[in-house]
Amino acid sequence: MINLQEQTAPLLLQVLHLKKSYHLRPVLRDLSFSLEQGERVALLGPSGCGKTTLLHCLGGIDRADEGSIEIQGVLLDRLSGKELTELRRRSLGMIFQFFHLLPTLSVFENIEFPLQLLGVGSSERHDRVMQLIEEVGLQSRWKALPAELSGGEMQRTAIARAIIHRPALLLADEPTGNLDSLTGEKILHLLEKLSQAYKIAMLMVTHSPQVADICHRVIKISDGVMIEESSEKIKSSDH
Ligand SMILES: Nc1ncnc2c1ncn2[C@@H]1O[C@H](COP(=O)(O)OP(=O)(O)O)[C@@H](O)[C@H]1O
Ligand SMILES: [Mg+2]
Repeated sequence: MINLQEQTAPLLLQVLHLKKSYHLRPVLRDLSFSLEQGERVALLGPSGCGKTTLLHCLGGIDRADEGSIEIQGVLLDRLSGKELTELRRRSLGMIFQFFHLLPTLSVFENIEFPLQLLGVGSSERHDRVMQLIEEVGLQSRWKALPAELSGGEMQRTAIARAIIHRPALLLADEPTGNLDSLTGEKILHLLEKLSQAYKIAMLMVTHSPQVADICHRVIKISDGVMIEESSEKIKSSDH
């Protein structure tokens, strides 16, 4: 009989021997790592080592020269442009240091946008967006435009927009890099809470040592390859 308890969780993301050069200069030289479902991993490395390049390849924004990226068992480079867009809309979320909100849309409309792209009906959209707005603490700001928000409120909006469709994987590029340390800490705990509540795996590029506190593992890019820094306890509340 198969003992389900002993089966390891299926891999959410598997990256094998990824290589990427710009103008013949190698950035990612031979990069391999994997993520399990619901796992939070901090990605460290000096400026210019290729962290953003890696996230762009994982998010299907950029293409690697060699190697493979498999998300939920699907090899990215086997997908057509249309299939890749579909996978990104359904399974991935991304957040950035500078928030990248749509300036003419309100908080509510920014968060609603990914659900519109997926064809979710308006009454379900309304309910899901309002519920998430409450979870990220923006109840009093849902009508505001991005320019009227504080940095922390902008990042809360960006986070809600990135996870409203309940992606399996959130890619975060220096999500607290443009926030003061107290606001940054609150944002990290929000990410941890949402990752646990919705079982979202997170790969978070950071310079902040605090990020490691909310992650299961820390990995580092050094000379274009991946180094495992530490393997921590899996937080019991996640399982
Ligand atoms: N579109 C591009 N064209 C040319 N070089 C690039 C491009 N994007 C990134 N690079 C170079 O690749 C290296 C890695 O960049 P990046 O991934 O942004 O690093 P990090 O996010 O770790 O700071 C840097 O040397 C950068 O200048
Ligand atoms: Mg970067």
